Amino acid sequence: MKKIAILNNKGGVGKSTVAVQISHGLSKLGYKVILVDLDGQNDSSLFLGITEADYNKTFYDLVDKRSNIKLEDCIIEARENLDLLPNSHIEEINAEFYRESRIDLVLNEKLSDLENMDYDFVIIDCGPQRTRINDAVLCYVDDIIMPVQVEAASVRACGSIYEYLADLRLSPDKITLIIPNMYDQRTKDAKENLEFLQEFFNDKEDIITPPINRRVKITEAGKMGKTVFEYDEEAATQFFNVLERLVKKIG
Ligand SMILES: Nc1ncnc2c1ncn2[C@@H]1O[C@H](COP(=O)(O)OP(=O)(O)OP(=O)(O)O)[C@@H](O)[C@H]1O
Ligand SMILES: [Mg+2]
Repeated sequence: MKKIAILNNKGGVGKSTVAVQISHGLSKLGYKVILVDLDGQNDSSLFLGITEADYNKTFYDLVDKRSNIKLEDCIIEARENLDLLPNSHIEEINAEFYRESRIDLVLNEKLSDLENMDYDFVIIDCGPQRTRINDAVLCYVDDIIMPVQVEAASVRACGSIYEYLADLRLSPDKITLIIPNMYDQRTKDAKENLEFLQEFFNDKEDIITPPINRRVKITEAGKMGKTVFEYDEEAATQFFNVLERLVKKIG
């Protein structure tokens, strides 16, 4: 079971989009996947077409000490081979995690039942910024996938992930893939920013995937609760290229 975080301190760069497309893509390749939505806005759940009306138990119930809920009771089937663990009360979860003395162990404990289920991948969609929840996620996962918006301010800020990992005394080797997102291949500016990204990471060990273009259809798919595999063939092909790289590196 591979545990992967989709993380970037910056907001709005495509974390939830990438989390959903990677999860559905892996499930379409025959892997058994659970997507853990730890983004307070529930975007990855919504992008899969799953709203609050579809669940009443969430990750919060696993954290709430008054509740006796089992993990399996919080999981919902989103697609074939793709399950979802939704969240609620994200601020309470964050506050509760501040009270935990061993942040490095908290998710191992809360999600321990996953070890006995037959998932190949646990994909965690993270909210932006440094939070206690994201500290816990970074300690828990083996790998980090970082979507970066191909735009000047975002590419310049992407080094902050190294500081974050260093502060938690975690290895930078956890960063497995950088996905350039919202790429506009027509502009010179986008090309320059993509080159900057490649230079910055020195394209070591194929860490940077082929870019995902900026496409209105990707936004539309999210709004409709569909994945690109159900709505946009061109974006689906681009995400399959990313998946190929992912599977080659850690599949
Ligand atoms: N390649 C793309 N082309 C067009 N729109 C995109 C693309 N990637 C993401 N989007 C859209 O951009 C918006 C932000 O994406 P998303 O919610 O995935 O970002 P995020 O990093 O998860 O944001 P947050 O920090 O708020 O969690 C969404 O409306 C999404 O549909
Ligand atoms: Mg998000």
